[in-house]
Amino acid sequence: MKISHWKQFAIVLFTVPLAFTAFRTTPTPVAAGSSDDTAAIYKAKCAACHGVAAAKWFDPAGPDEEHVEAILKGKKGEKPPYMPEFGSKGISEAVAKDLVAHMRSIRQP
Ligand code: HEC
Repeated sequence: MKISHWKQFAIVLFTVPLAFTAFRTTPTPVAAGSSDDTAAIYKAKCAACHGVAAAKWFDPAGPDEEHVEAILKGKKGEKPPYMPEFGSKGISEAVAKDLVAHMRSIRQP
């Protein structure tokens, strides 16, 4: 009797914190465009030309579809620098959409 009580107690003692750690360490699913990822991609691949606040070469009033297309296929203005295409460099349409949203969000009005 006494021993099984201790066993129960021990089980509770071990499982409760375990359950807590399990919950705590369960990673939040990182979708294709979690904002952290998007910010990192922007910093690594885009900020050099567009600036940390997306102030250059970006018209936030433009339609999303055009922006996404510019990212995936590139965009050539009259003279360089040109917007390179990222469609063949691992940027999917979903990520491009997130990047556009990110650029809007960091752009100062
Ligand atoms: C080599 C410099 C360069 C890099 C790197 C670059 N861009 Fe661009 N981007 C440009 C230029 C220049 C334009 C403007 C093209 C034009 O309209 O003549 C442009 C245009 C755009 C547009 C369209 C803006 C508009 O108002 O039409 C979007 C959206 C965009 N870039 C997003 C990105 C993203 C996202 C990245 C990173 C994945 C990126 N760019 C990387 C130079 C760059």
